[in-house]
Amino acid sequence: MSATPFWLAGRAAVGDDEIVVKHPWDGREVGRASVPTEAQVEEAVAAAYAVRKEAAALPIHVRADALAHVARRLEERKEEIARLITGENGKPLLWARGEVGRAISVFRFAAEEARRWNGTAMRLDTDPAANGRLAYVAKVPHGVVLAITPFNFPLNLTAHKVAPAIAVGAPVIVKPAPKTPLSALILGEILAETNLPAGMVSVLPVPNERAAALTADDRLPVVSFTGSGPVGYAIQDSVPRKHVVLELGGNAAAVVCGDADLDWAAKRAALFSNYQAGQSCIAVQRVYAVGDVYERFVPKLVAEVESLITGDPWDDTTQVGPLIDEDAAKRVESWVDKSGGTVLTGGKRDGASYAPTVLTDVPENAEVSCEEIFGPVLLVERVADVEEAFAKVNSSQYGLQAGVFTRSLDVAFKAQRELEVGGVIIGDVPSYRADQMPYGGVKRSGVGREGVASTMADYTYDKVMVLTGLDL
Ligand code: SIN
Repeated sequence: MSATPFWLAGRAAVGDDEIVVKHPWDGREVGRASVPTEAQVEEAVAAAYAVRKEAAALPIHVRADALAHVARRLEERKEEIARLITGENGKPLLWARGEVGRAISVFRFAAEEARRWNGTAMRLDTDPAANGRLAYVAKVPHGVVLAITPFNFPLNLTAHKVAPAIAVGAPVIVKPAPKTPLSALILGEILAETNLPAGMVSVLPVPNERAAALTADDRLPVVSFTGSGPVGYAIQDSVPRKHVVLELGGNAAAVVCGDADLDWAAKRAALFSNYQAGQSCIAVQRVYAVGDVYERFVPKLVAEVESLITGDPWDDTTQVGPLIDEDAAKRVESWVDKSGGTVLTGGKRDGASYAPTVLTDVPENAEVSCEEIFGPVLLVERVADVEEAFAKVNSSQYGLQAGVFTRSLDVAFKAQRELEVGGVIIGDVPSYRADQMPYGGVKRSGVGREGVASTMADYTYDKVMVLTGLDL
């Protein structure tokens, strides 16, 4: 199989090594990615750095047209790209198609936001000493963005870092996850069709061991990382003076209140603890059922989990496929086996696949409870009331999103006030994410916000120009 070239300053290039990409479902080779040499990485970084001023000065219509072009081409190639995602990541086509649809939206939103991207004027004659003075506040990119992207949404989480960079006029170097480089390379290919200046985008599938050199490079002042906590915090600690955005893990919780529609809550919790085999930072991991809701809810939840269609990710109807590899499935298996909880359903591994699993009576200090499981496992516990439920949600070291199944506006506002998370979803699972809304965590779930407009704000700083002697 010939290796897919990488994208070096907008042109296809090959290096002297290759990453072999294997299909998680059956281990067969689905592609190869060419790996850049040290010299080629240096060439890409130098080109990005050299083009930064030209990029920041690019007319808005050029940026918006490039972003709209990517949205259009993703739409035209959506089935091919969905199949590529399923091939390299193993997620069922159902979710791969959804991911491509979301990436199309991200580029479309970025094209729209680019056209709205304005500075602000501020009158300063609020006191007599500033008569005739006006501030114009421009939003200026910090500089080149280093985007380090994960395997679980190899296209859309790359889109979330690349599209806002282009919208604000910042060059971007993408380092995709070594297990899933092919989707990011397609994005590189489509971006190379645009009129963006050479150097503005490079996609470099280097192994993780070589990422530290990129992170440390002073020419890349913004590091945007999505992945595990230990790696994210190691990056932040290694470059304390850089602008570091971290989208890290979670052990997302849902609260099911007495007034909830239990059929809906059971259906959604079952599906979204298992979508992508649980490999999402906002997959449902913990469910707290209030009072006697527990007795009515648990049988519905178990029935919904058992009705999920598992198996071959190429089958259009499959809802739960394999994890990224057998080691990941073995880790999930060992965490469940030593959890001390009661298995209500599931609890079995077959190669890289792990059966959708529901546990109860799990001690709070078990890994399945307090760490991010990143697998198709859900814990359900009875709590006395909403107060106890919220205390349990907050007992986590993480704080990405939470879901609260209630019809009460009072409980909704209480949830927004009291839950220590970046987002609260009322009437649905914590896994709900609209790509235009701010997304990110508190506590050990990271720092900074994604969501197209939020990322654009994050990649830029306010630069003030004061005009004097004006006749206002
Ligand atoms: C993540 O796993 O952090 C991303 C979740 C999503 O985009 O839906």
